[in-house]
Amino acid sequence: MALITWNESFSVNIREIDEQHKKLVSMINRLHDAMLEGKGKEIMGELLNDMVEYTITHFSTEEKLMKQHNYPGYVKHKAEHELFVSKVGEFKEKYEKGQLALTMEVLSFLKSWLTNHILNSDKKYGPFFNNKGIY
Ligand code: FEO
Repeated sequence: MALITWNESFSVNIREIDEQHKKLVSMINRLHDAMLEGKGKEIMGELLNDMVEYTITHFSTEEKLMKQHNYPGYVKHKAEHELFVSKVGEFKEKYEKGQLALTMEVLSFLKSWLTNHILNSDKKYGPFFNNKGIY
C-alpha cells in the first residue's frame, strides 16, 4: 500500500504544480515500497539523486511564478525550499560516505516535510494565483 495517497486536499488548484507534487509523492512511495521489499538501501542513492534533481525543477517552477506575480510570501517560502534542499543534500552526502544508517529516517523526513509543506505553505498560494487567472 502506498505510504502517501494523493487526494484532493493536496491540490493547490494549479495543474502543473499538482502534477509535480504527484511526481514527488510517487518518488517517496517508491522508496517506501522498496523498503517493504527490503531493498530500501539499494535504491536510496538513486532516489536521493532524483529527489534533488526534481525538487530543483519543482521549486523553481513555484519560485518563478511567485516572483513574476510578487507573491507576498515569496521570501519565507523560498527559505523553506532551501532548508529542504540542504537536508536532502546532507542525506545524500551521508549516503555517499556510507554513513546513512537509517532509510526509515529519510523516509519519514521526506513524507512529513512534503505533506506539511504542501498542506501548510503551498496551499496558501493557490487562491493568490487563481485570482491572477493561473490554474
Ligand atoms: Fe511545492 Fe513549495 O513546494
